[in-house]
Amino acid sequence: MLHQTIRPRRLRAGDCLRRMVRETRVSPDSLVYPVFIAEGEHIYREIPSLPGQYHYSPDELPRLVEKLQRAGVSRVLLFGLPAHKDPEGSAAWAEDGVVQQGLRRLRELDPSLYLITDVCMCEYTSHGHCGVLCGSEVDNDRTLERLAQIALSHAQAGADMVAPSDMMDGRVAAIREKLDQNGFPGVPIMAYSAKYASSFYGPFRDAAGSAPAFGDRRAYQMDWHNGREAMRECALDVQEGADILMVKPALAYLDLIHEARQRFDLPLAAYAVSGEYAMAKAAAAAGLIDEHGVMCESAIAVYRAGADILITYYACELAEAMRKGEIG
Ligand code: PBG
Repeated sequence: MLHQTIRPRRLRAGDCLRRMVRETRVSPDSLVYPVFIAEGEHIYREIPSLPGQYHYSPDELPRLVEKLQRAGVSRVLLFGLPAHKDPEGSAAWAEDGVVQQGLRRLRELDPSLYLITDVCMCEYTSHGHCGVLCGSEVDNDRTLERLAQIALSHAQAGADMVAPSDMMDGRVAAIREKLDQNGFPGVPIMAYSAKYASSFYGPFRDAAGSAPAFGDRRAYQMDWHNGREAMRECALDVQEGADILMVKPALAYLDLIHEARQRFDLPLAAYAVSGEYAMAKAAAAAGLIDEHGVMCESAIAVYRAGADILITYYACELAEAMRKGEIG
């Protein structure tokens, strides 16, 4: 028998020691909770494709604020469900648009919340694409003007940060210029830099009513065969003035999170998207997995890969797990 001098198990003996030697440390400060605000009144409705997530009309937002305060989550990413859609997506930049109303209401309810808005057109266009159309194609350069207008209207309604998710070329520069020219040089841009044309967005599109009426998003979102291209997208966003980069989805793209962390100095976010959440929920409901364990392990994998910020539908539950010391 060989004499064992090196025993990695020594450092696994007992929770006190294991917690001392953890390599990945996390905090609720890094969590962002996505929220769907629906135009109308008295809407507080569970989203069928995302069990445990709700649509809130602006008047029902006190329920959300209570939930966030209880969980100790202070950062939200807002999505809007407008009452009316048109080909130009004009409700997206309306002064009394649903996200704009939600921003004002949330600011009143809890001034300490950090309000980030998703900047895109797909929830507002009647055709469901992320920009204005020219024939059956999304017209990149005309869309840039609209995106900049949307970002400005969010800033004017009180957004602390804007997050363009459309994947048009040049959107970060267009938004930066518009914000700077209109008195918002201090509003940061979190760019959905490496956003893939993913099947993991299915439940979100049901939740947001934003599935494209024809075709798909492969002419603007990235092909998931490509990794180097994600680094190019990140580099372009850095040049254009992005403040935070993002990889989306998260769990199937850990290689890119890792690589972006090595290559870029900016804070890096990862978005654990609707399909990741819905799969865990469905498997748990079928009695196949321990939901809490899978939630914790998946989240830590994303941080371990290099993400500084995690956008997740589990933000409230994860904050609790972090506070209890179950993770991090
Ligand atoms: C809007 C947008 C989408 C998501 C975030 N912003 C949907 C899409 O691109 O089709 C997906 C989020 C999720 O699945 O949780 N463009």
